[in-house]
Amino acid sequence: MDLRAIAKRRLPSGVFDYIDGAAEDERSLARSMTAFADIEFKPRVLRDVSEIDTTTTLLGEPMAFPFIAAPTGFTRIAHSEGELAVARAAGRAGIPFTLSTLSTRSIEEIAAVNPGRNWFQVYVWKDRGLVEEMVRRAGAAGFDTIVPTVDLATFGRRERDVRRGFELPPKIGLDTIVDGIRHPSWTWDFLTGGPIRFANVAASEGSGKRDGTDAINLAAYANEQLDPSLSWDDIEWFRSIWNGPIVVKGVQSVADARIAADLGIEAIAISNHGGRQLEGSPPPIELIAPVRDAIGDACEIICDGGIRRGADIVKALALGADATMGGRAHFFGLGAAGERGVELAFGFLHDEFRRAMALNGLRSVSEITPDVVSPPRNRTD
Ligand SMILES: Cc1cc2nc3c(=O)[nH]c(=O)nc-3n(C[C@H](O)[C@H](O)[C@H](O)COP(=O)(O)O)c2cc1C
Repeated sequence: MDLRAIAKRRLPSGVFDYIDGAAEDERSLARSMTAFADIEFKPRVLRDVSEIDTTTTLLGEPMAFPFIAAPTGFTRIAHSEGELAVARAAGRAGIPFTLSTLSTRSIEEIAAVNPGRNWFQVYVWKDRGLVEEMVRRAGAAGFDTIVPTVDLATFGRRERDVRRGFELPPKIGLDTIVDGIRHPSWTWDFLTGGPIRFANVAASEGSGKRDGTDAINLAAYANEQLDPSLSWDDIEWFRSIWNGPIVVKGVQSVADARIAADLGIEAIAISNHGGRQLEGSPPPIELIAPVRDAIGDACEIICDGGIRRGADIVKALALGADATMGGRAHFFGLGAAGERGVELAFGFLHDEFRRAMALNGLRSVSEITPDVVSPPRNRTD
């Protein structure tokens, strides 16, 4: 949250609000964070924690600690390096990086800078040919996992952006010029960093598609491109075009977790899109235990959203998650200090995770079991 405060000072207010804001009254965003505060540890002492091992595996591959850099669209708006900075920092931190369909650096650019694990997040566009082409490009570039995001049948109403008439890239009007003068380091970087565009769309063959070079209203753009007819059949379709693991991101109920498990999906990310989609959606952390009870070990479970401290990661794992994921952590870091800020964000989370393990008497991730925490609110579905 210190990185958030620095990002707030460094970024023009419209850019900060694009990152920080959420749907409607932002209650789901707030509750996704405070729900962690409602869970307390049951610490054990005198357990010799001189050696702490934070490593774990997810989808059969190792990671330094159980956190994944979530996909974030239009990342270059915070800093011209954009997704390159996040991917490099994730690689150095030993955690997977997820590239958004709406990224401002391409699949191939990411593969060139991050020798670590790269995942590709897929929005299902009306043009299935374009979706298929992007998925194949991700495979060819060595990405190991695809992440269809399923909570965006239509775009959530992010009222901070609506009130401002926010467009990406920001249109240059009097307000922007005044904001630019008040935030000189961001403005210099923005003006010298080259045009921002949806790099994956622009790189697609024969795409006469709008790639974001012209100012766009993100909500209108997404609503125009996204396919609201998306269904579980499409998830099965991904099987026919992709050989590796699939993470379905945006599961928000026990009933849907069961369907994913029945379909043999490798992992689900329980997520409300950081509170940016359905206002009133449940805090992800509260669904972890009931979903784990319902599906057993059928799929791996990722808790996505509201992670602001390493201790939150311990709580999510104690309740049954295999790993956690977050977007604003790295985006605030990027806005605060570019790649160094992202590195700090991942470093803070890793250090805090290790410290919370030590203070709970936990030496390895496998020791993080349900008896580490007091039970959260009793949600059953
Ligand atoms: C600025 C911003 C842009 C995002 N863009 C995408 C995106 O393009 N695709 C996607 O699946 N999720 C996107 N998300 C959601 C994140 O992947 C993730 O679910 C969310 O940030 C988790 O909540 P947290 O920010 O509290 O960690 C975005 C989130 C933010 C804050």
